[in-house]
Formats: sequence, structure tokens, C-alpha cells
Amino acid sequence: MKVSSALTARKSVRAFTSQTVDKPLVQELLRLAGHAPSGVNTQPWEVAVVTGESKIRLQQAIEGEARKGTPNSLEYKYYPDEWVEPFKSRRKACGLAMFSTLNITREDKERQREQWMANYRAFDAPVMLLFFVEDILETGSYLDYGMFIQSIMLAALELGLTTCPQAALAEYPNVVREQLNYSTSKTLICGMALGYEDKDALVNSYRTDRLPVEEYTRFFE
Ligand SMILES: Cc1cc2nc3c(=O)[nH]c(=O)nc-3n(C[C@H](O)[C@H](O)[C@H](O)COP(=O)(O)O)c2cc1C
Repeated sequence: MKVSSALTARKSVRAFTSQTVDKPLVQELLRLAGHAPSGVNTQPWEVAVVTGESKIRLQQAIEGEARKGTPNSLEYKYYPDEWVEPFKSRRKACGLAMFSTLNITREDKERQREQWMANYRAFDAPVMLLFFVEDILETGSYLDYGMFIQSIMLAALELGLTTCPQAALAEYPNVVREQLNYSTSKTLICGMALGYEDKDALVNSYRTDRLPVEEYTRFFE
């Protein structure tokens, strides 16, 4: 698969078939992604691959917290408290387009909530990946991590797999660390759903648009 094809074909997949992913395939995927660059070759990534019974136990715990209304305790600030333009409109368009694909109306808070809850089960994908970073590292490692995560998503396509990166999976970091026995010195950055795309699922027909290059680029010659 050409890199350009992978870049344009990658999309967030939010419904998966029940087909499991063989462990050697996950290992190969992470080996390939491990070629991502990082400042002074720090390679700050630490990945938990959660499947089977472990996944069921973990997702029940996370979804349980969310349903109880436990406040989100993401350990770093992903989004601003106050959204301003043009980001405000882009964020709104993203949510509205997904609900409209699913025929969920603006008023139907119950279905919107259930769609959101699926996040905590990694959209029922057979594999949930969780990404940790040592606290002694700094903001730069988040740059490195982004490259690693995108590398996973691109390499996955060549292996016939699909993904959805998920900040939602890092909303209850203490529950995750406790269940998987990770030290409190490691921040849970985000997670990812990994598996085979359910091509019949409506939610997967939704595609986001992109800005034209001219809107975010200035050439100085
Ligand atoms: C770091 C990161 C975290 C994300 N977290 C979530 C999430 O929690 N739930 C979700 O449904 N999508 C999540 N997304 C997916 C974005 O909504 C998606 O990438 C964006 O709308 C563009 O669509 P595309 O991935 O299909 O191109 C996340 C994406 C990134 C890069």
C-alpha cells in the first residue's frame, strides 16, 4: 500500500466485526510503529494491549464510572475550556455530521449518550490499546507519541486492520492503572480501538472533511 493511499484512506472506525486479531499481527503492528521518530530517540511509548476477558473487565469498570457520572479526570488538558472560532465551528460540524449519519436528532440526548458510551468499550473492537508515558518526560514526548500513534493507524491499514484513536479511554486513568497494574508515575495519554471494520455499520460511512492546503499554509519565497 502506498503511503499516500494509507494517508487518505485512514479514517476513524467506530464499529467492528467480532473477528479477533491474532497476537502476532498486533506485535507486528507495534514493531512497525516503533520505527516512528522521537526526540533523541527517547521512544517514550508504553502500550497495553487489552483483549478477551481482560478487555471485558476493564471496559465494564470504565463504562461503569462514566455511567455513574464520575467526572472525567484526563491527566492533561486536551481541549480549551472556551472554544473560539474557527475551532468551535469545526468541532460542532464534526459532532453534527456523525449524528446525522446515524440519524440521531439534536434532541435525542439518549442516543447521543449511548453513542458516546460506546467509546468506553473501544466501540466493541476486539482490541483496546492504551498508551502510557512516564511522568518525568515532558511535552515533547507528546509530539513523539503522536507520530507513534499515527504510525500504528497507517500500518494497520496495510495489515487489513482499522482503528479509532480515543482520548475518551484516558478519562478514568486510575481505574485503568489499577486494573492493569501500571504505576501512578505513568500518565495515560489516550487509547485506541483496533480490529476489522464492520463495513455494514452506518457509523463507518461517515467521513470528515479537510481544509484546503491554502487555508493553513503560507509560502515564503
Ligand atoms: C488523539 C485523538 C483522540 C481522539 N479521541 C476520540 C474519542 O475519544 N472518540 C472518538 O469517537 N473519536 C476520537 N478521535 C477521532 C477524531 O474525532 C477524528 O480523528 C476526527 O474527527 C477526524 O476524522 P477521521 O479520523 O475519520 O479522519 C480522536 C482523534 C485523535 C487524534
